[in-house]
Amino acid sequence: MLGRLNHVALAVPDLTAAIAAYRNTLGAEVTEPQALPEHGVTVVFVNVGNTKIELLEPLGENSPIAAFLAKNPSGGMHHLCYEVDDILAARDQLKAAGARVLGDGNPKSGAHGKPVLFLHPKDFFGTLIELEQS
Ligand code: CO
Repeated sequence: MLGRLNHVALAVPDLTAAIAAYRNTLGAEVTEPQALPEHGVTVVFVNVGNTKIELLEPLGENSPIAAFLAKNPSGGMHHLCYEVDDILAARDQLKAAGARVLGDGNPKSGAHGKPVLFLHPKDFFGTLIELEQS
């Protein structure tokens, strides 16, 4: 089921500062910020060749990463995103195996305009997992 690692996501308290650190200090290629109101975040992607790093900043009042940043004020690793060939088949297989799919269980459009789902971190050893249709 599991395909390649699409990205590692880091929640950051200040996206402008994080972009400057990755672009200027680390010399990385960083995309322009993209607001995703449906997900409550603003994102950029850092291209590191074999995968991408997603930097996430809260957007709006009920951002799903606000609680994470309250616990981790300087930021930290938020989730891993794996590609799957068929997101609905993957969801059904995971649910049948007892894994919890977050939200209403239906894929939403993610940062790449492809369907994504999130899996409960308690079912995967403390790591939030995003699945993206490849
Ligand atoms: Co992500």
